[in-house]
Amino acid sequence: MQKIIILDFGSQYTQLIARKVRELNVYCEIYPFNKCPNIDDTVGGVILSGSPFSVCDPQAPQVDLSLFENKVPLLGVCYGAQYIANAKGGSVAPSKIREYGRANLQFIDSESILFKGIKIGSQVWMSHGDTVQSIPDGFKIIAGTADVKVAAYKIEGEETYAIQFHPEVYHSTDGKILLGNFLFEICKLKADWTPASFIDTTVSNLKKTLGNDKVILGLSGGVDSSVAATLIHRAIGKNLTCIFVDNGLLRKNEFEKVMQSYNDMGLNVVGVRAGDLFLNRLKAVTDPEQKRKIIGGTFIDVFDQESKKLSDVKWLGQGTIYPDVIESSSVAGPSAKIKSHHNVGGLPDYMKLKLVEPLRLLFKDEVRRVGKELGVKPELLNRHPFPGPGLGIRVLGDITAEKVRILQDVDDIFISSLHESGLYDSVWQAGAMLLPVSSVGVMGDERTYESVVALRAVTSTDGMTADWVHLPYDFLSAVSNKIINQVKGVNRVVYDISSKPPATIEWE
Ligand code: XMP
Repeated sequence: MQKIIILDFGSQYTQLIARKVRELNVYCEIYPFNKCPNIDDTVGGVILSGSPFSVCDPQAPQVDLSLFENKVPLLGVCYGAQYIANAKGGSVAPSKIREYGRANLQFIDSESILFKGIKIGSQVWMSHGDTVQSIPDGFKIIAGTADVKVAAYKIEGEETYAIQFHPEVYHSTDGKILLGNFLFEICKLKADWTPASFIDTTVSNLKKTLGNDKVILGLSGGVDSSVAATLIHRAIGKNLTCIFVDNGLLRKNEFEKVMQSYNDMGLNVVGVRAGDLFLNRLKAVTDPEQKRKIIGGTFIDVFDQESKKLSDVKWLGQGTIYPDVIESSSVAGPSAKIKSHHNVGGLPDYMKLKLVEPLRLLFKDEVRRVGKELGVKPELLNRHPFPGPGLGIRVLGDITAEKVRILQDVDDIFISSLHESGLYDSVWQAGAMLLPVSSVGVMGDERTYESVVALRAVTSTDGMTADWVHLPYDFLSAVSNKIINQVKGVNRVVYDISSKPPATIEWE
């Protein structure tokens, strides 16, 4: 099976290129522009990504084209296209007109394989400040728009193609056809990367790597750790022990439900009730980062203690996925720390375990597809993301057992109502926050002075940006009534209508 290498010059769209390539069932990997791997027989083609830089900038990222040019087919996208043109003696300069947004192809070279099946008028998405003004000898223009003469070119006698628009973006209507032409017609790759083939290769590699060794893995109840555990289980069976910690900050009845699902799946799971320990350590703590650190640290202590009960464990299994891996090597460096996201992991060095991360090359939607193929229950696969520190960062201010109980009840009504109304799957993430505010209310003839809760439901693709969901008023009204009538201690419900940015999804 051959793969595509995508060299990343720092564009916000690089991951999207990778996802589109994989949707076409071709395996690909992203590398920073200055860490191009060896182009051996396993590589079927190279794609150069866009970039926030201008090729005219002295600091612009550089790559030695001879590493892959004429060895495998090459596709330059946006900056990649400008880079190749510039490097070969063409001219690239800041564009005089706006080249941002939708445009239509007015010229297509009918002989060009890259545009096979794409018609004149096809909409493409432009997003560049510079433009290719002239191309060197031996280059041929293969597509253009009214404003962008060189929307695409080819180097004659080579399998080198370049486009200034973004085929990976939804608004480029025929972008997938174009990428498919590059992969199948030009690189001559096969569409052989599927969830089933991924599972076969991964399970057989895991068998080889792990042999008879024992592995422990911390389950969170979420998609990634569940799928990672299922894959490892398929390879080594009972040699995998999973640990699921009840930190006292889970959703209502979550511990029991999730334990049941894991048992049904045949996983060997140790469930640890450690709620009191977490709540004790969190007593009177109000700072969100401090809460995260305490919860993360306590998790490690509990995990460590449990793992000591097992003998001969050599490996730690983790549900790390591709975006975490790419981010840590991206051109722009790890993005600025806004909140310290503490997932299962980051165990102390003294545990001396080797890491096994079977999902480290998959995107989230691919993890779900693999999970489905493995027969992981839909309840686990389709559940909304839930933060590692759980309700600990949704009880604003200091945390007590009573406040957690109130929030669990509120959250349970909200989430069950989403399920009952068929709205759950159209929401990316939903939850409730218990605010450190009391407000006056009236119930019967009595004046009340009780807590306020905020409901939040967002749409998103990766949690990096999000918008609030326009839940129907009737639905919100019914949920609000139910919460105030049934949850003692709450007399007011508000709905969060902030997008991210500038707000975040969680309130802490
Ligand atoms: P924010 O609040 O940063 O959240 O917009 C983005 C996504 O990350 C989740 N989140 C966390 N997940 N540990 C986690 O494992 C954390 O500390 C944490 N904080 C936020 C959040 O639920 C959303 O899905």
